[in-house]
Amino acid sequence: MEIVEHLLVLVHLLGMAAIVGSAVFVARGTVTPALVWGARAQLVTGLLLVGLAEMGDGDVNHAKVGIKLLVAIAVAACAEIAAATAKKGDERAQLVTAAGALALLNTAIAVLW
Ligand code: HEM
Repeated sequence: MEIVEHLLVLVHLLGMAAIVGSAVFVARGTVTPALVWGARAQLVTGLLLVGLAEMGDGDVNHAKVGIKLLVAIAVAACAEIAAATAKKGDERAQLVTAAGALALLNTAIAVLW
């Protein structure tokens, strides 16, 4: 079970890198598959990590994961709406910027709280 948890943390970190790397560093203002898939991955791997922690004896900080979940839903919503509108030729750079900034916020919450 420990290896599963470690692999989930690995994918969780890669998801964070995909969002922040794309929206903050590489493709500012442009929606990319890395941003959209990274945002989806964070929701799935984050919830699975919480599930594993609840099953084990690890203490879960419910306030912290609750806030991270809300922020991650906002990141995914920004990314999905930006991708859907870009497909129709309407680029929404602010939504991409918001997704990157909110992912940075979640990273800060993860590390500093
Ligand atoms: C944009 C979304 C997210 C970002 C950028 C993000 C970022 C991170 C980062 C950087 C870590 C590693 C922290 C460390 O090891 O010190 C982490 C760990 C964690 N995250 Fe997230 N996260 C996101 C969404 C979520 C969601 C939605 C949940 C669950 C509701 C979640 C639950 C967790 C848990 C349980 C850990 C601890 C893993 C462990 O070390 O055992 N995360 N997150």
